[in-house]
Amino acid sequence: MALIEVRNVSKIFGPRPKSVLPLLEAGRSKTEILAETGHGVGLRNINLDIEAGQIFVVMGLSGSGKSTLIRHLNRLIDPTAGEILYEGEDILGYDKNQLIAFRRKKMSMVFQRFGLMPHWTVLENVAFGLKVQGVARAMRRERAAEWLDAVGLAGYEDSYPEELSGGMQQRVGLARALCTDAEVLLMDEAFSALDPLIRSEMQDQLTALQARLHKTIVFITHDLDEALRLGDMIAILKDGELVQAGPPAEILLRPADAYVESFVRDVNRVRVLTADTVMKPPRLRITTENMDEALRQMRASPHDFAYVKVRDGDEERYGVVTQAALEEARRSRASLRDIMCELPSIPLSAPVEDILAVALQADFPVPVINDAGEIKGVVTKKAVIGVISDQAEARAARAEEALSPEEETPPEEEPPPQA
Ligand SMILES: Nc1ncnc2c1ncn2[C@@H]1O[C@H](COP(=O)(O)OP(=O)(O)O)[C@@H](O)[C@H]1O
Ligand SMILES: [Mg+2]
Repeated sequence: MALIEVRNVSKIFGPRPKSVLPLLEAGRSKTEILAETGHGVGLRNINLDIEAGQIFVVMGLSGSGKSTLIRHLNRLIDPTAGEILYEGEDILGYDKNQLIAFRRKKMSMVFQRFGLMPHWTVLENVAFGLKVQGVARAMRRERAAEWLDAVGLAGYEDSYPEELSGGMQQRVGLARALCTDAEVLLMDEAFSALDPLIRSEMQDQLTALQARLHKTIVFITHDLDEALRLGDMIAILKDGELVQAGPPAEILLRPADAYVESFVRDVNRVRVLTADTVMKPPRLRITTENMDEALRQMRASPHDFAYVKVRDGDEERYGVVTQAALEEARRSRASLRDIMCELPSIPLSAPVEDILAVALQADFPVPVINDAGEIKGVVTKKAVIGVISDQAEARAARAEEALSPEEETPPEEEPPPQA
């Protein structure tokens, strides 16, 4: 079960929203519904699962319904139809007190415009959420100072917000949200007002914090680069409809329609896609350096070659061995190390850009290894060429599009030479 489940949620703005639902269900467009009834369609039948510990990004153009969606999660907005479950519990059924507790303990919102109190110090701003929770003063100050430190603002405790830059103010906002220890952080375009350099710093900081905290973060952005940098999952909204939801690689490799394609077309795939998104399972992995056991594993499999890992002092080396070489080695008492064809290895998170040369030059598909040094998959030449040629194809298609109007005008024919 996902931590947050959004089920068939529709939101209509206007005086009699429910009366408009039949039109929505009949599939009438946002524009038609506005023209006929004066009601605005905020969201149309949204279904989403948000897993605990993920950064879940909601992306779309301005007006696509991102803020409307995120505000449903802490019930700043109630849906016209549908339900929202938190840990399986229907949050629409909460009474006023339950809702207050829910917002304090579970859902913490980081606003785009920081929302800091100008006449409070930085430390007081950060500690505010704890005060609301009834935490004692000394404890509040201690925890707030820790979070300020975590976002790189140690030493600014007694400053006032106006003394800080925009980026620093947003870090205070982030520290405040983190300080409440809420399970979910809701971040509505939290970095969009920052200039590019500071924005990129904030993205790094959030990524670093998340590696430590494993919070559930719902992050809204209209920027695909930001979505790709931060998101474990990306949901794309258009005119209040969910057009695609999936991990970044899926969005890039299989855009659901022209709208998504228009976001991803200029992304540099070789830089964004990583080894784990293009690897395949290896056909056979031999999991021992014992020659008898290795041969047994090889004989038991339908394949006649396998990936192996051998320890060489402190280092691990990777390669492939053939069944023939294994049979021979047992007679000649050679070791795996002696008979394997050594291959380079690639970490799971390496961008395709960095593994192109390695994968294209190797004699066999190159092993992809995790932090523990285990072989998790292999990258074939075909896979990396696929990434490059997809991109080349997309470029070529666009170039053709750009040229086609001229092609349609037939070239003027020269008059035939007079005889
Ligand atoms: N309180 C409201 N009253 C009427 N219409 C609204 C209200 N809030 C949002 N909308 C409309 O709902 C749509 C989605 O808006 P919003 O969720 O703010 O988009 P985004 O955050 O993606 O820019 C827009 O057409 C917007 O005009
Ligand atoms: Mg918005």
